[in-house]
Amino acid sequence: MKDSNFLKEHNARHIWHPMAHPADSQANPPDIIVEGEGVHVTDVDGNRLIDAVGGLWNVNLGYSCQPVKDAITAQLDRLPYYSIFRGTTNDNVIELGEMLRDFFAEDGLTRAFYTSGGSDSVEVALRLARQYHKVRGEGGRVKYLSLKKGYHGTHTLAASVNGNANFRTQYEPLMPGCFHIPAPYTYRNPFNETDPAKLAQLCLAALEDEIAFQGAETIAAFIMEPILGAGGVIPPHESFMPGVREICDRHGILLIADEVITAFGRSGDWTGSRHWGVKPDLMTTAKAITNGYFPFGAVMIADTVAEVFEQDRSGRGSIGSGYTYSGHPVGAAAAIACLRETERLNVKDNAAARGTQLFDGLSRLMDKHEIVGDIRGGHGVMAALELVSDRGAKTPIDKKTIGAVHRATFEAGVMVRVSGPNIILSPPLILSEAEADAIIDALDAGLGSVA
Ligand SMILES: Cc1ncc(COP(=O)(O)O)c(C=O)c1O
Repeated sequence: MKDSNFLKEHNARHIWHPMAHPADSQANPPDIIVEGEGVHVTDVDGNRLIDAVGGLWNVNLGYSCQPVKDAITAQLDRLPYYSIFRGTTNDNVIELGEMLRDFFAEDGLTRAFYTSGGSDSVEVALRLARQYHKVRGEGGRVKYLSLKKGYHGTHTLAASVNGNANFRTQYEPLMPGCFHIPAPYTYRNPFNETDPAKLAQLCLAALEDEIAFQGAETIAAFIMEPILGAGGVIPPHESFMPGVREICDRHGILLIADEVITAFGRSGDWTGSRHWGVKPDLMTTAKAITNGYFPFGAVMIADTVAEVFEQDRSGRGSIGSGYTYSGHPVGAAAAIACLRETERLNVKDNAAARGTQLFDGLSRLMDKHEIVGDIRGGHGVMAALELVSDRGAKTPIDKKTIGAVHRATFEAGVMVRVSGPNIILSPPLILSEAEADAIIDALDAGLGSVA
């Protein structure tokens, strides 16, 4: 490793960072992380922090997951790459396919299509949805519906179904045929409705209305995160996703669950769909599938969808999607080891317990700090604080103040993530009770620093 002077001098000079303004990265260089262990990361100055970001919602098992590391190194020695495009495969993807089928059986998902990450998974799922209807002879079903505030990655199709202007405006025009309905976000919504159950019904009514307006026979799929993540951790009322499922069924629209962050235990259940008792038609996964140690993803496909493709004799069911790194043998080896470890540690139960503990802690912070306008969470280890400069008027906090909260929380030993007016928590699922308390204490110090 280069010495710290070199790293600091060249930090953000000749690379552009995702989701950041290049000039801002140069003016305020990013923290240089050089080590990870357990749920901790260490920066170039030797500051050791609890990583309440969990990498980027992906390091569910922490930074010391030896079985995944060993699987990667052993696979690099044995077969570092081979493609699984038509005509060839590798041993790992076959084994992983059987493991994924078992893991997702309760969700009714029995086939996997491998990708190299979350945006790719979303892209493939959306494309498969259109193709499914074409194979069935309903080629007019080409549109997509999604939620405002939803996040589905940054490929152009994904950005088109994204529900946040930050990821859209500078890249317009986006794909035609994508339409959005209000998110079940009680703190801010166009209905001015704070009751979660009533709001869920209003959003479902908006979905029905949009389907009637577009014509059901023109719509391929509805895509949603079971718990909205990057948009500010928005858990809908328990009636919402079942309601979406029922509406989609009634109109012949496929339901895509975007579980890039919720699959593999984060919500306190093995999948976010299962958390709400819903079986989707397609599910996107990535991130924690390899504990973040290797870029990899899988789109999971329901039996009913798979049958349409597998029974097709017209040729239309041939898959015209795929990436050089789809089914990468090293990624698949990492995923096999990761899935085994995820199940062995039964991390979903700890995620549920720590999620409740964190949410209770956040509600104490809200009682204490006027700057906290809203807290969201309570469904596994995903939570957010929305900061305001005026609680009554719900005025979003300015960038400088939330930046100061972030810095003071960092100095108190915890890395959190700032997204707009939100502080987002998505720590590893192996977090201990004491570490969850430490996150709340550091946030208490961070919020207190700007009082
Ligand atoms: C729900 C959801 N979908 C898709 C993506 C995109 O995944 P990736 O960044 O791996 O492309 C993300 C990333 O955070 C996500 O949270």
